[in-house]
Amino acid sequence: MSSSKYIQYHGLLLPSAAHSMESLEFAQNFSVEDSDVFAVTYPKSGTIWMQEILPLLLNGGDLTPIHTIPNWDRAPWLEETRLAVVVDQLPSPRALVSHLPYHLMPPSFLASKAKVIYVMRNPKDVVVSSYYFHQMAGFLHDPGTFEEFMEKFLEGRVLFGKWTDHVKSWKHTELGDRIMYITYEEMVQDLPAALRRMSDFLGRNLSEEVIQKIAENCSFKTMKTNTMSNFSLIPKGLMDDNKSPFLRKGVVGDWKNHFTSEQLTRFKSVISKELENESFSLPWSL
Ligand code: A3P
Repeated sequence: MSSSKYIQYHGLLLPSAAHSMESLEFAQNFSVEDSDVFAVTYPKSGTIWMQEILPLLLNGGDLTPIHTIPNWDRAPWLEETRLAVVVDQLPSPRALVSHLPYHLMPPSFLASKAKVIYVMRNPKDVVVSSYYFHQMAGFLHDPGTFEEFMEKFLEGRVLFGKWTDHVKSWKHTELGDRIMYITYEEMVQDLPAALRRMSDFLGRNLSEEVIQKIAENCSFKTMKTNTMSNFSLIPKGLMDDNKSPFLRKGVVGDWKNHFTSEQLTRFKSVISKELENESFSLPWSL
């Protein structure tokens, strides 16, 4: 796809509103610290949720960052233009997010002891969430019909390429105990339990009281009203929440309201074929 709305990076499509060749070079040369914590996601899998959660897990539940700093600056995207602007203001340990596949992470990341939480979401809900996101985001192409958009998604002609490639790349790393896998569904089902698991992984010893406080402040309902997290600070021309809010539904299984039975069959067959020789299995049935 050639359009000034997108740039191509190693065959991946990235929105030029937030990425530039300079920001991608900055990411490649970025000096990752051992104490850095990354939340890595395929788009629409819970990234901004992690931008709410990570700073609180790392600072022991102090709500100041989520009340005073927009999500994109408090846990910036490694590959986006804002990182260079805010990098010197990030408290330590730093929280970052990324949509990059494993093989495009910077050399300093590979050499470091930085930890990663990889959040995975059922791709049927990912494609639905992405479809609505394309309707509200003025910096992206109109998605067309759901049928058309689903085809693009399956072919990988969408932001950050194919969902299956992203998952494969992060399922096959040499990171050992530096990476933890969690699902969006697990977080929706029992957020305090998910937070306890993340907190243990990060070596934080958080009390039950703090876990509950973080869960309350990172709930869909609370985030939806937090101007530092709901993208209402972004001009309507770039993100129009009258068309569809960024924090849209926050549920599991909305795909059931969108897929026809033919679409479901096609979706399942493409995704399962692409994963058929993989050693891992998906945490949900397709
Ligand atoms: P929906 O469009 O299905 O509602 P990302 O941040 O990776 O772009 O993902 C966006 C998706 O995560 C949206 O899904 C959004 O509503 C959901 N989300 C964000 N915060 C959430 C929360 N606290 N609880 C549940 N879902 C959340």
